[in-house]
Amino acid sequence: MTKQTRRLTDSAADLAVAADLLAQGDVVAIPTETVYGLAADALNPGAVRRIFEAKGRPMDNPLIVHIADLSQWDALVTEITPAAHALAQAFWPGPLTMILPHAPCVPDAVTAGLSTVAVRFPSHPVAQALIRQSGCVLAAPSANRSGSPSPTTAAHVLADLDGKIAAVVDGGGCDVGLESTVVALDGPVPRLLRPGGITPDMLREVVGEIEIDPAVTAELKAGQVAASPGMKYKHYAPTAHVILVTGDTDTYRRFVRQHARPDDTALCLEEDIEHIAIASVSYGTRREPATQAQGLFDALRALDQRGAKRVFAACPDPNGIGLAVYNRLLRAAGFEVINGEIDDISADGTDRPDGCR
Ligand code: TXA
Ligand code: MG
Repeated sequence: MTKQTRRLTDSAADLAVAADLLAQGDVVAIPTETVYGLAADALNPGAVRRIFEAKGRPMDNPLIVHIADLSQWDALVTEITPAAHALAQAFWPGPLTMILPHAPCVPDAVTAGLSTVAVRFPSHPVAQALIRQSGCVLAAPSANRSGSPSPTTAAHVLADLDGKIAAVVDGGGCDVGLESTVVALDGPVPRLLRPGGITPDMLREVVGEIEIDPAVTAELKAGQVAASPGMKYKHYAPTAHVILVTGDTDTYRRFVRQHARPDDTALCLEEDIEHIAIASVSYGTRREPATQAQGLFDALRALDQRGAKRVFAACPDPNGIGLAVYNRLLRAAGFEVINGEIDDISADGTDRPDGCR
C-alpha cells in the first residue's frame, strides 16, 4: 500500500507528531545509535504486522523490543538472570540486545512464536524520547527492505521504504553504524548470536566465559537450525557480486593488482586506494576500525549506485569491533571468500580453494 511518508526532524514538535503516530499503531522509522529502526508499538499485534509488511520480512524472524526504562524490561521477561543484570549495568543504554524467556504480554507477532524475547535499551536520545512520549515499548528491526544493507541515514530509509511507512524521523548519521550485539541469556553460558559495537572482550570482562555461536563466522549448513532466525537469511547484500579477499594489507593490494579486471571495483580501506588501479569505494580506514563499522553499509549502497558488477572486498582485522564488520561482510558476500595468497583464480574469480570457506 502506498502512503505519504512524512519527513520529520528531531524538533520537539516533530517528535510529538511521531510519538502520536506510534501510539495510534503506525510504523515510523527512527534513529538509534546503531542503525535506523522501523518502530511500532510492540504490544499491538496489528502494528507489529505492519512492520513485517513494510519490510517484506519473513514472519518467522523475530523483532527486538526497545525500552527506555529498566522497569519495562521487567514486564517483558519472566526473569532477569544475574548475568543479564550485570550486562545491563555495564552496557545499557547502548548497542546491546539481550534474549530471555518472555512474559505472556509479548505477542507472538514479535517473538515469531519463540519462548524468548530480545530487548534493547538504546542510548540515542530521539529513540528514548519516542519510547517515553508514545508510552509504548517499540518493536524495531533495521529500517531497510529485507535483505538489503541496514540504513544509517534517513536518506537510506527513504531509498528503501518511501511510500510504505507513515514517517521517518531524521536524527542524522548513526554513531556505531552496525546493528547491536545480540546475546542469548536463556542458557547456562551467555551466547553471542550477532557481533556488534559491544565486543566479545567487553562481554567477557563483565560475565567471564561466553560462547560464540558458530553462525557468527560460518555459513549455516542445509537443515541446521539457526539460534537467531535472522542468521539464516541472505543479508546486507548489494546487487553487486561481492567477493571477500582474505589476507593482510599487502596481500589484498597485490591480489587486486594481479587479478582485477578494469571493470571490477575494490571495496577497500582508505589507505588502499592509492595502491589500487581500479575504481574503489572505501568503507573506513585501517587505522581506526570504528570507522569501518560506521562506513560499511553506506559503502555497500554506494556500490549499487555506481553500478558495480564484480567487487573484491578487503577483509577487516576480525578482532574487537572488526568481528562485527567481518560478520556483515561475509553475509554481503554470501560467504564467497577467496584466499588472497593464491596466484590463480578461475575466469569468473570465484575459485574457492580448500580452507577458504
Ligand atoms: O541495532 C539493532 O539491533 C537494530 C536497531 C534498530 O535497534 N535492530 C536490528 O533488528 O538490527 P533486526 O530485526 O534487523 O535484527 C534482530 C536480530 C535478528 O537476527 C533476529 O533473528 C534476532 O535479532 N532475534 C530477535 N529476537 C530473537 C529471539 N527471541 N531469539 C533469537 N534471535 C532473535
Ligand atoms: Mg536487520
